Amino acid sequence: MLCFQLLSLWFILHVCHRSLGEFYTSMMTIKQSILSERQLIDHLRRYLHRETQRLEDIKRFYTKVTAFHEATHNDSTVSMDNPLAAFTLIKRLQSEWLNIIYSNKAEENVQEMKGFYKKIESNLPKLEDLQGAAQGLMRLQDVYSLQLEGMVKGHFQRVSNGTIVDIYKPSVCISLSGDDCFLVGKVAYHGEDYYHSVQWLEEAVRLFRGFNRSPENEGTLEDALDYLAFSHFKTGNIFSALSLSLELLHYDPSNRRVLLNVEKYEKLLSKNYAVSRLGSGLKRPSTTYLRTRDTYETLCQSQGSQPKHYENPRLFCDYYTNGSPGLLLQPMKRELVSLQPYVVLFHDFITGGEAHYIRESAVPALRRSVVASSVNQSTADYRISKSAWLKGSEHPTVSKVDRRISLLTGLNVQYPYAEHLQVVNYGIGGHYEPHFDHATLKSSPLYRLNSGNRMATFMIYLSSVEAGGYTAFIYANFSIPVIKNSAVFWWNLHRNGQGNGDTLHAGCPVLAGDKWVANKWVHEYGQEFRWPCSPNPHE
Ligand SMILES: *[C@@H]1O[C@H](CO)[C@@H](O)[C@H](O)[C@H]1NC(C)=O
Ligand SMILES: *[C@@H]1O[C@H](CO)[C@@H](O)[C@H](O)[C@H]1NC(C)=O
Ligand SMILES: *[C@@H]1O[C@H](CO)[C@@H](O)[C@H](O)[C@H]1NC(C)=O
Ligand SMILES: *[C@@H]1O[C@H](CO)[C@@H](O)[C@H](O)[C@H]1NC(C)=O
Repeated sequence: MLCFQLLSLWFILHVCHRSLGEFYTSMMTIKQSILSERQLIDHLRRYLHRETQRLEDIKRFYTKVTAFHEATHNDSTVSMDNPLAAFTLIKRLQSEWLNIIYSNKAEENVQEMKGFYKKIESNLPKLEDLQGAAQGLMRLQDVYSLQLEGMVKGHFQRVSNGTIVDIYKPSVCISLSGDDCFLVGKVAYHGEDYYHSVQWLEEAVRLFRGFNRSPENEGTLEDALDYLAFSHFKTGNIFSALSLSLELLHYDPSNRRVLLNVEKYEKLLSKNYAVSRLGSGLKRPSTTYLRTRDTYETLCQSQGSQPKHYENPRLFCDYYTNGSPGLLLQPMKRELVSLQPYVVLFHDFITGGEAHYIRESAVPALRRSVVASSVNQSTADYRISKSAWLKGSEHPTVSKVDRRISLLTGLNVQYPYAEHLQVVNYGIGGHYEPHFDHATLKSSPLYRLNSGNRMATFMIYLSSVEAGGYTAFIYANFSIPVIKNSAVFWWNLHRNGQGNGDTLHAGCPVLAGDKWVANKWVHEYGQEFRWPCSPNPHE
């Protein structure tokens, strides 16, 4: 594919510059970036002030010299006969002009601004953050079936039953520019995801048409046409590839690469019209969870088959003490959500103050969340969040919450029979694709605690979100929305110790808001007298 060399070369450069930025993976770090931008605004304001001052000084000099010339020209009494006039002329030419023309003021002003930028540069989002954020937008677009035209104008809408409905209404509408769309399209393009690159680049081209270049943008209409034409070619739409390339030639008639492409497209079209229908077409890129994708997305958009309680008398709500004296005075509001797998929701499990304390305690320790992939732990695109581990021994509030979990579930949550409290903060389109909490391989790093598999999960919602972020149980076909301060509990293992396949679950992407959860994973050992095992795999 020689004729596309330029584009592929570009791709290689981008990959080389990847560095480990980690802003987009957590709303907490994104919020910190706002402060950086405010500081930059302050410096830009000072820069503008100094530059305006500098230009005004130059204008004053210009006016002075112009006035002198006008006076000498109009009025013959002021002429070079006057030694003062002659002197000032010579002084200006020998000295004043030099000072104006060789002034360093402009560079000094720029240097001052650049100096500040360099100082905070390491704390600013990296290319990887930008790419991750772009991918987050595309994820939201897919999972929530968002209409791209609406999204570009700042709306979060999907077509439901033939009409457009808002699934989230932001208080301030932020629309995207042609260059914004161009960037998202380019990220998709470089990931060979032509399904998204075509859609986003079409928006970019539409917005770039009739729009002048601005200094902050890197893309132009020609660039967008170039990428869009090639994306169409990759999906087998030769006809569009050709017409876009011709439009591009209109702006850049001598572009040899595009001329060669046009020749090639014309040959392809004339040789065999059917070829224009070949190719993969516009298909969504395959993912790691393709098998369950439709269910996952349905559950993220709705609560699935989560029953209304009057529909199933075996599901109920009650005030629950688990026979613990510690809970007698303040029984917990329990809602049984599902019997198979057994999933319970405890409303108002923690107070707003406790949730706040836990979030704040986690902030300094937040790191990119990892996944247990075979033997090792690593970061992955299918888990976008930051997390921190809090020890009960170091935080009295955490130990109080541990005790409450123990009272409610009757389980031993002391380390190492349970893991420390894991606090998670999600980022742009932050999610966790369908997974099991328990280990499904003997080699899993989860066994390093030497206390068996993760038998139960206790997940606390530490915040509310504005939209999205449900916890979806894929095979059980229901999802639980984010209810602030409540907690979800389920058994991952059957009583015989085998994993319960019905617990496959996911954290849906956060459409809007700052999602925080805390996880307590209870292991098998230490529970022998609390959760007696059974040979019956159905229990
Ligand atoms: C000099 O003459 C020009 C045109 O004749 C006029 O516009 C300008 O105001 C005059 N300048 C002065 C200082 O009189
Ligand atoms: C869909 O639209 C039709 C006709 O407008 C209406 O009768 C039906 O109730 C709608 N269904 C839902 C689920 O809103
Ligand atoms: C899941 O629940 C939805 C909503 O009740 C229902 O329409 C769908 O058929 C269910 N899917 C399966 C696989 O049971
Ligand atoms: C796991 O990590 C170790 C040490 O970092 C490495 O030697 C090993 O190859 C990794 N294993 C896998 C399966 O990635």
